[in-house]
Amino acid sequence: MERGKLLYEGKAKALYETDNDNLLIQYFKDDTTAFDGAKKEQLEEKGVINCAISTKIFEFLEKNGVKTHFVETLSPREMLVKKCEIIPVEVVVRNIAAGSFSRRYGVKEGTPLKEPLVEFFYKSDELHDPMVCPNHVYLFGWATREELAYMTKEALKINELLKNFFDAIDITLVDFKLEFGRHNGEVILADEITPDSCRLWDKSTHEVLDKDRFRKNMGKVVESYKEIYRRIMEKYGE
Ligand code: C5P
Repeated sequence: MERGKLLYEGKAKALYETDNDNLLIQYFKDDTTAFDGAKKEQLEEKGVINCAISTKIFEFLEKNGVKTHFVETLSPREMLVKKCEIIPVEVVVRNIAAGSFSRRYGVKEGTPLKEPLVEFFYKSDELHDPMVCPNHVYLFGWATREELAYMTKEALKINELLKNFFDAIDITLVDFKLEFGRHNGEVILADEITPDSCRLWDKSTHEVLDKDRFRKNMGKVVESYKEIYRRIMEKYGE
């Protein structure tokens, strides 16, 4: 399948039409941004690694009964996906305090949470992705109550699956972000799951292996993503 017209260009990915009205090509770029796009760099090969990592994770989730937009991976940077109407809400699941949670509530980074926490953020660079509660999501008409309940349940299920997936390769899943969309009226998991959208720490050394390396100028960003991919392939590769 060939890339058609550019439909949407995001910060790290682009979406192209295909000759099938129901399918799009999700293209992974090397662009890496943080702080609502204020910090931006090209990290060579990041798009390729992220496409490969997202592929393995979406295949794993599909195998475990999660409905997703993933159809197949077409090339090192191109994934064929079902066309969705994206729900403009980022669903964040946290197992350990970090990032905006630690800043917002004054909780030391690394503190385990007594149970997984699901949070919602409104997708808006202009407003800096404000945190919202389920009532806001419903009130603003972004999702129905049923869709909210479904997204929450799926997010927690995905968390359990991914915690085990990463635990088996000596990585701690600290937190991650999901996006959902509607395809033929049904809510399915969309977007990507990569070290850009997760916090992943080495289980024994606690070394940061995710996008915080970029946000905090720690260096070795792509090298860390490659290390995650190496471990995934060692354990789950064909
Ligand atoms: O910044 P914060 O602590 O709220 O991020 C929680 C998780 O969601 C992190 O894994 C982060 O990488 C991810 N995230 C994301 N895209 C955003 C905001 C957060 O992938 N726009």
